Amino acid sequence: MSQLIKITFIDPEGTSTEVQAEPGKDNLLEIAEACGAKLGSACGGVCACSSCHVYVREGLDSLDEMEEAEEDRLDMGFDVRPSSRLGCQCVPRDADLRVEISEESLQTWYNEHPDRRDEQKKG
Ligand code: FES
Repeated sequence: MSQLIKITFIDPEGTSTEVQAEPGKDNLLEIAEACGAKLGSACGGVCACSSCHVYVREGLDSLDEMEEAEEDRLDMGFDVRPSSRLGCQCVPRDADLRVEISEESLQTWYNEHPDRRDEQKKG
């Protein structure tokens, strides 16, 4: 078995969630869902929205390059930056990652989890 890597999710509310992952297995959306990080997924992870938008702060170069479909979807996202990726399209490889969840993605997550809205910090 390959060595586990560390994925750290940070959301706009300042919550940090750290988890171990097997390289080359699950994508960032699946990893976030498994560890309870608040990463939205309006289309269910099929590259048909931009609600799983993240900024990869560390380890960006270790990810596979974006395919055209991901680029097209990200074009429709809010506050897109050079470190932007779609979580459902990124499978961690051989490096630890530090992943910031976008505001857009966090809002989608709350829309998908109305029972958790009381946790939402008003800005
Ligand atoms: S969840 Fe829709 S593009 Fe990733």
